[in-house]
Amino acid sequence: MDVVSLVKNRLSETYDLHGRCVNPQFVRVLEVIGFKRNYKSGKGAWLVDAKGERVLDFLSGFGVFNIGRNHPVVVKVLHEMLESDPPSMVQMDAGCIAGLLAEALVSIAPGELESVFFTNSGAEGVEGALKFARQATRRHKIVFCERAFHGLTLGALSVNGNAEFRERNEPLLPGCTAVPFNDLAALERALGDGDVAAFIVEPLQGKGVFVPDNDYLPEARRLCDRYGTCLIADEVQTGLGRTGRMFAVEHWDVVPDILVVSKALSGGLIPVGAILSKRWIHSRVFDSMDRCFAHSNTFGQNDLAMAAGLAALHVLESEHLVRRAAEMGDYLLTGLRRLAEKYELVREVRGKGLMIGIQFGEPSSFTLKTGWKFLHSMNADIFCQMITMPLMEHYGILTQVAGHGLDTVKILPPLVIERTEADYFLSSLDAVLAEAHRFPGAAWTTTKNLALRTARSA
Ligand SMILES: Cc1ncc(COP(=O)(O)O)c(C=O)c1O
Repeated sequence: MDVVSLVKNRLSETYDLHGRCVNPQFVRVLEVIGFKRNYKSGKGAWLVDAKGERVLDFLSGFGVFNIGRNHPVVVKVLHEMLESDPPSMVQMDAGCIAGLLAEALVSIAPGELESVFFTNSGAEGVEGALKFARQATRRHKIVFCERAFHGLTLGALSVNGNAEFRERNEPLLPGCTAVPFNDLAALERALGDGDVAAFIVEPLQGKGVFVPDNDYLPEARRLCDRYGTCLIADEVQTGLGRTGRMFAVEHWDVVPDILVVSKALSGGLIPVGAILSKRWIHSRVFDSMDRCFAHSNTFGQNDLAMAAGLAALHVLESEHLVRRAAEMGDYLLTGLRRLAEKYELVREVRGKGLMIGIQFGEPSSFTLKTGWKFLHSMNADIFCQMITMPLMEHYGILTQVAGHGLDTVKILPPLVIERTEADYFLSSLDAVLAEAHRFPGAAWTTTKNLALRTARSA
């Protein structure tokens, strides 16, 4: 079988295949926002489409390509592994390479996170973390944050703070309570009865890129200690260098009881994740030989994912990508804040490292304000397409809208980006913002037409 030729020959059928057999609604979305590019390859921070045009990837597959796409070190390691006929997933044995990756993760983790359980995804990591906390504390209640995103399986959805994902799935797990993010008084009220198993939190919230005040996580740590609650840090997106520290909790010197990673751990090439926990938690879950599979999965420790994980950690360290994320993040944040001063539609730029949100808000000048209000009355979610669509169409830059109703564009560039790429993004965004400040103008008309099409499809 020659799969490379197969894909090459049938590349033009991609959207037809997805329309028929995968997700036709998604294909329609790609069509209306002009994102159908039929990509044929990717390297580092760049994708190449079927026409040979390059696209700068400021989305990184939702944050999996921290080390860039198809990093040569990970690719080489995977080739070598396959050629060595690895004894993957014997199951009634323990694989060496899983032990090596676990050792490597423990060595970079903050504090005493000494036990590792491997998963296949972020949501699976969250499911496991919730189970671990419940078993370790013998309590069942969980506190989570409004606007939180922890994945879309049923347990993870029970601690998801976004109504649009929860609806049609309720009732979810009992005993899960939402508190506002960054509100310590609300957190204390929720934990105060001393019957909560875990408080699960993203150190920076991915939906909208919300950064907490500096005392939030350290105080949350103290509250969890006071009320016997496990602190679960969901670092599925923030972990492994994304925010300019290996783990985002390090910005505040906080050591959680359980830390979940996934996305970037294999360099984006093989699904993988891990739950890191303190020894006492792990040993309360796996507390006898009978219970050695008290939590388990089939593919979690597969040799290819483990090898890719070791290789990706090696690249993060040897190329100093965590430091680079901090430096490039500061550079982009400074450039973006300059644009915020220039353009009244930009309300705030926030983030850490290379996880950045650009929030828009109602402008003060009369004509723009009219346009803003009119568009929002048609569709509360659509404004940001006025930014992401021309970035793609005219400048070949892939970005995303940061969540429903937030008026925020999010960027998650690979940590390997260069100054020239950051500058290209800033100058392209400058031009797109200039166009968006002309009302009436082409950008507003295009977005209004998109709102009309969306309304018709609903
Ligand atoms: C913070 C966080 N947790 C969990 C998840 C779920 O991960 P997955 O999509 O791999 O299930 C995500 C995915 O975006 C995430 O950002």
